[in-house]
Amino acid sequence: MENYKKPVNNFPLLEVGWISKAHPPSKNMTQFDKILKTLKTTQKTWLVTGNAGFIGSNLVEFLLTQNQKVIGLDNFATGYQHNIDDVVNSVANQAAQNFTFIEGDIADLKTCQQACEGVDIILHQAALGSVPRSIEDPITSHESNLTGFLNLLTAAKDANIKRFVYASSSSIYGDSEELPKVEERTGNVLSPYAVMKKTNELYADVFKRLYGMETIGLRYFNIFGRRQDPKGAYAAVIPKWVNALLNGEDVFINGDGETSRDFTYIDNVIQMNLLAGTTQNEKAFGEAFNVATGGRDTLNDLYALIKKELKKRVDNLAEKDVIYRDFRAGDIRHSNANISKAHDIVGYTPTHDIYQGMQAAIEWYITDLK
Ligand SMILES: NC(=O)c1ccc[n+]([C@@H]2O[C@H](COP(=O)([O-])OP(=O)(O)OC[C@H]3O[C@@H](n4cnc5c(N)ncnc54)[C@H](O)[C@@H]3O)[C@@H](O)[C@H]2O)c1
Repeated sequence: MENYKKPVNNFPLLEVGWISKAHPPSKNMTQFDKILKTLKTTQKTWLVTGNAGFIGSNLVEFLLTQNQKVIGLDNFATGYQHNIDDVVNSVANQAAQNFTFIEGDIADLKTCQQACEGVDIILHQAALGSVPRSIEDPITSHESNLTGFLNLLTAAKDANIKRFVYASSSSIYGDSEELPKVEERTGNVLSPYAVMKKTNELYADVFKRLYGMETIGLRYFNIFGRRQDPKGAYAAVIPKWVNALLNGEDVFINGDGETSRDFTYIDNVIQMNLLAGTTQNEKAFGEAFNVATGGRDTLNDLYALIKKELKKRVDNLAEKDVIYRDFRAGDIRHSNANISKAHDIVGYTPTHDIYQGMQAAIEWYITDLK
């Protein structure tokens, strides 16, 4: 496609998605297929924190469609009631009855204790995202991202919940210039946000060693997809640009546009959370895994891709030139993941590359963006 360069990657794109060279496609069921089959007959109770946000709402929706019981916990710091309503309305009535929502703050230990009652598996997503937010106001981010994390981890331990899967971040690679990023080699962190995510991983490791908890950290690499918030100062780049183009507003790129990222579609994240939530492989416990596709695209590539996909669907799209401005403090220059560890230990096989994900995300934004 025009202006779209195939990403530099360590996993070739096949017709159905990204598949490890070391693990060619097989006619056998994937690990994810096997889990979905098991879930049909095994109902567990999952606590999904941050369920009014982007990733959490997608996890809740998927789990409900798989006949699971789900408790959501969110304080609406950056999440929305309309995301919860959207999830409840999108699943069958019977599935919706398996959902309970607690409005509350993870910075409050009692709230975490209440949320942990009767739970089998935790998927902890609640946090204040954004590197710039953490630079401007580290204390507020710390309350959710570290105090809240430790509260939930402690409440889980006290409730004898072993499986604790949590959102970490590619930001912990910091100033390491190595590409692709391999889990055991990180650099100096560049922001308070990265300090918090790195400390989450340290706590999770220690709780595994001290209390035998089955903690698993997921280092998300620039996730995008339906329900990601396009608004506000800290919005992620894909929904922000889609929204700006749809509304004829200016689009800004921080730096020269050659900054690159491993943009990862939400369905891959759902798969990895379910794999991490159910794996019986002890090698996964106390570990952190890259959650990405193994691709790498620059911001200039990304802008061209978004414009191209929007033009196919929207008549008279206002075409503005992008405005380049200063690099942003705390940002990593290049980011691209090696995803072999996730593949080898829990069977992660991403189904969508950036191109496949973008088609689905843009359809959603055009239909649902209000
Ligand atoms: N989206 C990405 O690209 C990305 C990349 C790396 C890591 N992550 C991490 O993934 C997780 C989910 O991110 P997201 O993109 O869905 O963000 P989001 O802002 O859409 O969702 C986060 C949710 O957590 C809730 N929350 C925040 N603080 C809370 C608190 N103290 N108590 C209860 N709820 C609270 C918010 O209200 C929101 O609904 C976060 O931990 C984030 O740091 C995301």
